[in-house]
Amino acid sequence: MSLAAFPALRLRRTRAAAWSRALVAETVLTPADLIWPLFVSDGQGVEEPIATLPGVSRWSVDRFVDRVREARDLGIPCVALFPNTPPALRSEDAREAVNPDNLMCRAIRAAKEAVPEVGVLTDVALDPYTSHGHDGIVDAAGYVLNDVTSAMLVEQARVQAAAGSDIVAPSDMMDGRVAAIRTALEADGHHNVQIMAYAAKYASAFYGPFRDAVGSRGLLKGDKRGYQMDYANAEEALREVALDLAEGADTVMVKPGLPYLDIVRRVKERFEVPVFAYQVSGEYAMIEAAVAAGMGERDPLVLETLTAFKRAGCSGVLTYHAAHAARLLGA
Ligand code: PBG
Repeated sequence: MSLAAFPALRLRRTRAAAWSRALVAETVLTPADLIWPLFVSDGQGVEEPIATLPGVSRWSVDRFVDRVREARDLGIPCVALFPNTPPALRSEDAREAVNPDNLMCRAIRAAKEAVPEVGVLTDVALDPYTSHGHDGIVDAAGYVLNDVTSAMLVEQARVQAAAGSDIVAPSDMMDGRVAAIRTALEADGHHNVQIMAYAAKYASAFYGPFRDAVGSRGLLKGDKRGYQMDYANAEEALREVALDLAEGADTVMVKPGLPYLDIVRRVKERFEVPVFAYQVSGEYAMIEAAVAAGMGERDPLVLETLTAFKRAGCSGVLTYHAAHAARLLGA
């Protein structure tokens, strides 16, 4: 391609007026690109603000349903659910994760009953249910056991799907769990329940506020580097994605978000499948901390970061700013 030279070519011409910038915009962010993560807690009529996630609360199931209505009214197509399991129900074996009447399942049923048109995505991992905060079952040495955990994840996904979950999203990083979950969902007749694999999930320092939100931060012994990915690696992320797709994942996720947009781009170019990214709790908290300190303005920071995800190749973004962004986008 041969380009004209200056002054015939002035790239500033198409930037000069707002109407022109709107015409040539390559990427457009809309509320339909957003997935809103919501934390659910026990009780009735409860809103519990989360100190390390300013502006985000845990909601009891009844109040959570109001947030799902809000999502519908704002044009947000999907919500992601995370339970803050009461401490008495956490155990070494995470048995509450497979209780068909656990907090997660009650929230799914309530959302699908009240607002069936909004998609419900549910996290499949054991960390909100274990007494040690790990995503799986640990042996005496503290190692997270792959196959034993995977069998639990299958049961967890089955009870979530039976409760009405539209998308099960394994976030645990065990090997082989996508195939095992897919097989079980098919056997149960849940042919249209999707799997969004947290395919490239990194062991990250950006998850701290989330662990506060689901009550696992104080419990966690050690770290998650034995199963989540090393942030030094990109080729390994492509292998993870290839495996999860081969096992039957419908869509894949990269997580965290903004520091990993190179991974999003490479996954999108290599596999040409819907890719999602999770702008995680620590990323949200950094923006809010900057705003509180007078170091930045919320609205432009939110729109710029979320548009960057789309530019990188994302079909959608999980973000705690979803409702705020949807309002900014004029829903
Ligand atoms: C749990 C899970 C985590 C997040 C989503 N699912 C935390 C972790 O892996 O420790 C993090 C989300 C966020 O930080 O916003 N399997």
